[in-house]
Amino acid sequence: MDFSLIDRAVELLLKANHAMVLTGSGISTESGVPDFRSPGGIWERYDPSLFFYARFLKEPDTVWRTIIEMNSSGEFSLWDAKPNHGHIALAVLEELGLIKIIITQNVDNLHQKAGSRNVIEFHGNMLFFKCLNCSRKYGYEQLIEIIAGSQCLPPLCECGGVLKPDAVFFGEAIPQHALRESFRHAQDCDLMLVIGTSAQVEPAASLPLIAKGMYSLFRGMGNFSLPKLNCHVIEINREPTPLTGEVSDFLIQGGAGEILSSIIHKVKEKKGIA
Ligand code: APR
Repeated sequence: MDFSLIDRAVELLLKANHAMVLTGSGISTESGVPDFRSPGGIWERYDPSLFFYARFLKEPDTVWRTIIEMNSSGEFSLWDAKPNHGHIALAVLEELGLIKIIITQNVDNLHQKAGSRNVIEFHGNMLFFKCLNCSRKYGYEQLIEIIAGSQCLPPLCECGGVLKPDAVFFGEAIPQHALRESFRHAQDCDLMLVIGTSAQVEPAASLPLIAKGMYSLFRGMGNFSLPKLNCHVIEINREPTPLTGEVSDFLIQGGAGEILSSIIHKVKEKKGIA
């Protein structure tokens, strides 16, 4: 871990007027939840084509069987996972007023479990379930009761409609409010921490470009944004990503938990907080 980059990140955090965070599944691997594309990741173990919206509509029972298998494999459970030092550090940064918002691609509810209040769930949340017929929402405990009661899949709403996890499947639109708010924060921010994402899935992968005012340049869409010279993008990741050296100012390479804990430690030192 490069401590000079930690110092630089702390300096920028303390100076920022509108700092935001974009997280991916890499921040949750230290909670025992694998990410998607690293060796041994979820898409190596389970067929991603099962998580297309059209597939769910056609074969909800098959997809549900996989979701339950995933969460009862004994290896990890999205539903029982606990926040780690990385999630907790971000909640502290929010409490100190140093970050305004977390935009997460994760559906694991771990930022909220760690105490973060300003969280945009860009890809929804796997701990809630929605009826495809009447849009009624159910929580995790209610779902377990329904499945235990009916002993069959897919779980059904009282109206008879099929329940679907309230997460964004491939081919499904990003919730409008989440999209609009995320783009607005990216346009307004002067610092973006990009943590534990391979930055390969759109439109989330464009948020760092918007932060740097490079969106139109890279996406060749009518020149509605100018490079934002006052905005810094810092990556925290075990590996370089397509953003590294192209969009981000620097990469702090290593585990998110350890790096964010060091940042908190330095911030508290600078602010004279015990
Ligand atoms: N600390 C820091 N970085 C980590 C750690 C860790 N402990 N563990 C993994 N990483 C990094 C990996 O190096 C990788 O760059 O996190 C990234 C995870 O990338 P992906 O597996 O591609 O996950 P993500 O970017 O969140 O995927 C985006 O794709 O499959 C869809 O909807 C799903 O939200 C998801 C989206």
